[in-house]
Amino acid sequence: MLGGDRVTILGIETSCDETACAVVRDGREVLSSVVYTQIPLHQPYGGVVPEVASRAHIEKITGVVAEAMKGIGKIDAVAVTYGPGLASSLLVGLNAAKGLSLALGVPLIGVNHIEAHLHTPFLFDTGSTGAPDTGGSRSCATVLAPESSMPALGLAVSGGHTTWMDMPAYGEYRIIGQTLDDAAGEAFDKAAKLLGLGYPGGPVIDRWAKGFWNGATDFSNAAALKSLSYPVNIRLTDGMPRFPKGHPRAGTAALAGLDADMCVSFSGLKTALLYHVRRQPPANEAEKAGLVAAYQEAIVGTLADRTATALKRRRYKALIVGGGVSLNGRLRARLAEVAAAADVPLLLAAPKYCGDNAAMIAGLAYWRRNVSGDVALSIDVEPTLQPGDA
Ligand code: KG4
Ligand code: ZN
Repeated sequence: MLGGDRVTILGIETSCDETACAVVRDGREVLSSVVYTQIPLHQPYGGVVPEVASRAHIEKITGVVAEAMKGIGKIDAVAVTYGPGLASSLLVGLNAAKGLSLALGVPLIGVNHIEAHLHTPFLFDTGSTGAPDTGGSRSCATVLAPESSMPALGLAVSGGHTTWMDMPAYGEYRIIGQTLDDAAGEAFDKAAKLLGLGYPGGPVIDRWAKGFWNGATDFSNAAALKSLSYPVNIRLTDGMPRFPKGHPRAGTAALAGLDADMCVSFSGLKTALLYHVRRQPPANEAEKAGLVAAYQEAIVGTLADRTATALKRRRYKALIVGGGVSLNGRLRARLAEVAAAADVPLLLAAPKYCGDNAAMIAGLAYWRRNVSGDVALSIDVEPTLQPGDA
């Protein structure tokens, strides 16, 4: 942890398709957070195009940093995502951060993007109370601070990652489970592409599924579908496809020493959807909505099962969930049930901090060792960095 009473850190995030900069005080209080999303640039391709992403980062980074710095006084350190992510995107943020650290004469702190996602429930906007979202589950004053929430079970679910981690102490991460192939967000995105629902797929599938369970007939009104909430008890009905659970077999080499009961595999799910659509193309929007609702139940159910297993194996003080997929309404509800059954508080980020942002980078940096001088200037990007790696 950096010394001093009030530590103000500027963070930069460019690991994928968001150019972001934020200023966070004492690891949790967000003074500013600017996110420029490139989604419209990648939409025509149905996914992120690395060359398009890095060029857009170069174009936007200075403006995004200038906006985040408006009205901010002294900065004590500069933090930056150095992995995992797209090398050509990470390089833009890392070089901007090195330049700022040199120009301002302050240390540079390299931050792991996945670990940072798990910091998001602890962020609060300046002037607000600082209470994290507990997804409707029991909130507990003693777990509001990161250190007193340990040991915790962490789940990072995004477009690139689906990883369960043991967090024995704040800033320590040990992978206990993960996807062997596609990430949960990727499973949503690929299904939406297959069904012609656009990119990114997670938000649109979430909306359509909500509409389906509420008996909607018009799926074109995104705002109306978004405002719906999921019914409490959802059961697949007759006629809805039953997708396979993403449970890998024990003994598979891809487990790399991890327990099969804590790992998932989503690539078979996508293939099952493809075969189903070929065999029985949805005749109308309502049928398509039923299909994505069943598909979403398979993903969410698998994530909830694995989380419940981990919570049974060890006594944790909190379940911490972060990443773009944690915006999913059905996942939030299922995780709240699982946490309640284990009598563990669930800590979720506010919606604006679920997806990629720089507040999580500037925030977690408060707990990370900083490097300065020549060592900082020689930090390189680590596209395959794992949680717990130095
Ligand atoms: O954390 P994030 O912004 O970027 C990565 O680090 O990957 O996550 C993006 C992913 C995308 O795959 C997107 O489809 C998914 O998060 N996502 C959702 C929802 N909103 C975003 N998935 C399911 N339901 C949602 N509501
Ligand atoms: Zn992310």
